[in-house]
Amino acid sequence: MESIVVHGKTFVPYISDEEIQAKCFEIAVKINNDYKGEKPLFIAILNGSFLFAADMFRHIDLEAEISFIKLVSYKGTTSTGNVVTAIGLDERVKDRHVIIIEDILDTGRTLYQFLPELYNQNPKSLKIATLLTKPTARLFDVQPDYLGFEIPDKFVLGYGLDYDGLGRNIPSIYQLEE
Ligand code: XMP
Ligand code: MG
Repeated sequence: MESIVVHGKTFVPYISDEEIQAKCFEIAVKINNDYKGEKPLFIAILNGSFLFAADMFRHIDLEAEISFIKLVSYKGTTSTGNVVTAIGLDERVKDRHVIIIEDILDTGRTLYQFLPELYNQNPKSLKIATLLTKPTARLFDVQPDYLGFEIPDKFVLGYGLDYDGLGRNIPSIYQLEE
């Protein structure tokens, strides 16, 4: 496989389509086992997670629901700085087993700020499934319950992840060249 150029930056092949698909299946099998007899609600966070959500969810054999939300962060007036608001989150979270689907856990800031909003709606349980995590980039204490790949703190794109809007349609994952 060859490197690609997006917005003038060079990216090199990092995780193949086959590896990603195998991991989607593996995660779905784990969830199927863990939630046997339950009716979990998956909440996929747009935009980045849409391909992972689709490829993983198609292997879920439970009576599951899926919903898509968007998190918008803006400068708040509170002491914590940024505030994250969820668009498209409805009331069905109460008493449900909820599994959040993310593309990548980086600093952890986004989920750290959003999770309290979800907990306020009293889910029965709350777990996080993420395709990628950058453990050395973490600034906020959020840990994945279901994980695809641990990666170093380097920018990646492809498979839903973008660099300034481009690259989401690439079936595999590329890493920014040093
Ligand atoms: P935090 O830092 O809140 O970041 O955990 C979560 C969101 O930031 C985006 N992100 C990336 N997007 N390549 C991308 O294309 C990356 O390497 C990367 N790191 C973080 C992403 O939207 C994620 O949900
Ligand atoms: Mg994202």
